Amino acid sequence: MKSPLQAQALSAGYAGRAILPHIDVAIERGQITVLVGPNGSGKSTLLRVLARLLSPTAGVVLLDGKPIAHLPTREVARQLAILPQLPQAAEGITVATLIEQGRFPHVGPLGLLRPVDRAAVAEAMALTDTAQFAVRPVDTLSGGERQRVWIALALAQATPLLLLDEPTTFLDIGHQLEILELITRLNRERNLTVVMVLHDINQAARYAHRLIVLHHGRIVADGEPRAIITPELLARVFGVRVHIIADPHTGAPVCIPYASLATSQVAVQYNSNIES
Ligand SMILES: Nc1ncnc2c1ncn2[C@@H]1O[C@H](COP(=O)(O)OP(=O)(O)OP(=O)(O)O)[C@@H](O)[C@H]1O
Ligand SMILES: [Mg+2]
Repeated sequence: MKSPLQAQALSAGYAGRAILPHIDVAIERGQITVLVGPNGSGKSTLLRVLARLLSPTAGVVLLDGKPIAHLPTREVARQLAILPQLPQAAEGITVATLIEQGRFPHVGPLGLLRPVDRAAVAEAMALTDTAQFAVRPVDTLSGGERQRVWIALALAQATPLLLLDEPTTFLDIGHQLEILELITRLNRERNLTVVMVLHDINQAARYAHRLIVLHHGRIVADGEPRAIITPELLARVFGVRVHIIADPHTGAPVCIPYASLATSQVAVQYNSNIES
């Protein structure tokens, strides 16, 4: 079955600075793919290029086999929803109005919401427990409440592909698991294809079918979490020393970090300065 979203020989960057030098990746339909990597490794850049928010400097992105650059915006928005890392809401906009915008790719030319659109908005609010905020201006919500509203907006779009850049940022541990379990449920029940960035390696290992590890704009590991998560990889990419154990319940790898290579190298340098 052909990939719903694919990058071929993709390069991207900003103002002449190359960030992704050359990427080939095909997202698998019906899978949860999680991107991990250190700060600045190019995760958001890759997600933004895949969603056509940023134009590549070379190569192509294919949405259902067609070059995304040539597709009408409405068609792209019916296929793919993205939650950016730092979404911005218009000043004073209410939660309900923001989430309703997720239906714009589906409504007619007058932009009037049909019952089916209202039902999709209500469902997105129910799934994220945000109906209680409906009449509040988005900018009056707490960071975590706001994050759930942005997830609701992406869900209201009801696309087969969902791209999420750090969807659990700002959320407490209870709400983090609620969102990750919701995503897993939508993946299982509706065959939703998900590509998301997560920083928590253990959550990534637990919820991903496939992990893609980025380092300096390159894919340095790609596969099932239990096949690719090793102490060597985490030392090389993140500069941390970890123990890895198997989750007694799921068998997923669990990392227990115990030292930063950066700090231990500084300590070695510091000690040798004292001794000399
Ligand atoms: N709009 C921009 N203009 C110039 N440089 C940018 C821009 N956005 C990102 N960069 C640079 O591109 C590189 C990759 O950034 P990107 O946001 O893709 O990283 P990331 O892996 O998502 O990091 P994080 O985990 O911190 O979100 C960084 O060096 C960053 O400074
Ligand atoms: Mg980012």
